[in-house]
Amino acid sequence: MMLLSPGPVYIPEEIMKAQTEEMITHRCPEFTELYTNLKDRMKAYLNAEDVHLLTSSGTLGLETLIMNIAKPDEKMVCFSNGVFGDKLGKTAKAYTNTEIHSLDAGKGWNLERAKEHIDNCGAQVFGMVYNETGYGVRNHAKEITQYAKKKGMFTILDCISAWPGTEMDMKEFGLDGFVTGSQKGPACPPGLAILGLSGEAVERIESRDKIPGFYNDLRAYKKRFEKDGQTPFTPAITIMRALRKSFDMMDERGGVPSAVQKHKELSEYVRKRIVELGFELIPEPGFESYTVTAFKGGDNAKEIKKRMKEEFGIVIVGCKGIYSENGLRISNMGYVTKEMLDKCFDALEKIKG
Ligand SMILES: Cc1ncc(COP(=O)(O)O)c(C=O)c1O
Repeated sequence: MMLLSPGPVYIPEEIMKAQTEEMITHRCPEFTELYTNLKDRMKAYLNAEDVHLLTSSGTLGLETLIMNIAKPDEKMVCFSNGVFGDKLGKTAKAYTNTEIHSLDAGKGWNLERAKEHIDNCGAQVFGMVYNETGYGVRNHAKEITQYAKKKGMFTILDCISAWPGTEMDMKEFGLDGFVTGSQKGPACPPGLAILGLSGEAVERIESRDKIPGFYNDLRAYKKRFEKDGQTPFTPAITIMRALRKSFDMMDERGGVPSAVQKHKELSEYVRKRIVELGFELIPEPGFESYTVTAFKGGDNAKEIKKRMKEEFGIVIVGCKGIYSENGLRISNMGYVTKEMLDKCFDALEKIKG
């Protein structure tokens, strides 16, 4: 089966194989070496002060950022333009006072649209999704998080379907909290959330009296790492091994800047082919995702998806929210190649007739 889904994504064989090495415990020097290697590399990739790897999916990673950074008596303002933005808002509501601003499906956030909500919000914490996966919309996050930061807010960005396929530098973005998931751009199995923190976020977390959680109180992870380079709880060692292999492969191919360029170019190619096939793109121009393309598949969108899988062994997925009945999505996240995408378009062409 060829996965062109936006997570879990296609996993190259080398990454799958990296998981089959003999098991080690998380209380041995080999583990410390693996974990330190991953943390150091992520810190450099993101320009982050600190990085944590949580054994969890992306959502718990996001929740962890919110519960560690936002205090219960504070206010968090969240921007949404789809199901994942809505989930971010719901997560924030569980931990702090939350105000949510939403845009219609397909529309993207830019500074012009964001400014008035930031200027008048009186919030201490800001959150949004970089790449709204459900509709393939890339929000102009950098200009917004920079602005929110200048206004004195802690900034949290859900980069789960954005990184490393979309530009990201925590310091340049004025970002305090970053999250992605192993099953997305890193092209590993699901099970690890990768968190990035700014120096200010690290200080805030350290200085808090109480954090409303146990497993994901990030102070425990920091303390244990400082003690012996390990994790407080049993981590997903196999996925960490896969992640190291994925980072080796990314570095061999020119690192994060090349990954961004490759995703950008492949997504342009996907959009070109989709339009040539007669489909209509969902995102408004200028906000198209670099990692996932969403388009209107018509009344038989579900049938197309089914036939792609059954007749051609290619997995594409539907859209979310208001496009869940007639929308389709093709992902070029991770190590997807042009050759794989060409197979997908050949199949789509045959199905369209
Ligand atoms: C932007 C975004 N946020 C959050 C999530 C949720 O991640 P997970 O399913 O790993 O918890 C996803 C998953 O598709 C996503 O694309």
